[in-house]
Amino acid sequence: MRRKSLPRLLVEQIKISIDALEKAGVDNPVLDARLLIAYALDCDRLKLLMDVDRTLSDKEILKIETLIARRASHEPVARIFGKREFWGLNFDLNEDTLDPRADSETLIEAILRLTQTPPSRILDLGTGSGCLLLALLSEYPQATGLGIDLAPGAVQQAKQNAKQLNLSKRAEFKVGDWLENISEKFDIIISNPPYIASTEIPDLMPEVRNHDPLRALDGGTSGLEIYKILIPQIPKFLNPGGMIVMEVGQGQANEVISMMQQAGLTKPSKHKDLAGIERCVIGWKSP
Ligand SMILES: C[S@@+](CC[C@H](N)C(=O)[O-])C[C@H]1O[C@@H](n2cnc3c(N)ncnc32)[C@H](O)[C@@H]1O
Repeated sequence: MRRKSLPRLLVEQIKISIDALEKAGVDNPVLDARLLIAYALDCDRLKLLMDVDRTLSDKEILKIETLIARRASHEPVARIFGKREFWGLNFDLNEDTLDPRADSETLIEAILRLTQTPPSRILDLGTGSGCLLLALLSEYPQATGLGIDLAPGAVQQAKQNAKQLNLSKRAEFKVGDWLENISEKFDIIISNPPYIASTEIPDLMPEVRNHDPLRALDGGTSGLEIYKILIPQIPKFLNPGGMIVMEVGQGQANEVISMMQQAGLTKPSKHKDLAGIERCVIGWKSP
């Protein structure tokens, strides 16, 4: 227990916090310590660095140390904050939602690049926080969309995110098992399905393994099991000229393209993320 009589300067606290995160093997100890301390003190990171000579109260130290201990146990910063920015929009998270990844923005970029006629109707399969659907609706103001997820908590969070982003009039979210209760056709179907092979899950970073829902990660024996279920059904749910846009894991793009071709989808294309990894696969239904 810390003795009340010892005053501690902010500059000392920053150093102590960085050391603790470094010791715990956290990836970006300097950045994360500053983010968490700024959050604890309710100020931005710049103000934090301009005010390093001030003395912290015991209450402030306790608040900072609690957050640093959570990060040192490999809880991601976005989980601690309960929010993540995606496509410049703010998304709240809960234990049923995947923490949206910057790599998934590759799907939105590819759609914007390839679409000649703006879509009217969009379906997002495995919507999680709603990030993919809501990012698309923010880009296509005339479109409406439906997001499906098996996790009721995710659907609840996606609805709340839509409300916060003023998109709830155009976004509907429902609990469902993939395409099971869908009876209409769409111009775009987008999906970031679980694609990690079950046997690889124990080897994931603790940030992912212990904090993202297993249901959002587990792609079965091969990692490709959900694509095998979804892709053969996709043409039935696309309007003529419509597109299917799927996120894939490293090394999965070619197999997913073959599945799309076998299902009769045309003009397949692959799109790389910022790290140069093929992250997105697109197929079209003939007009
Ligand atoms: C990789 S996460 C993607 C979440 C979000 N779209 C994103 O990109 O951040 C996969 C999502 O699929 C959902 N899911 C898993 N099995 C499902 C099923 N049988 N039917 C519908 N959704 C399912 C999970 O709950 C999870 O939200």
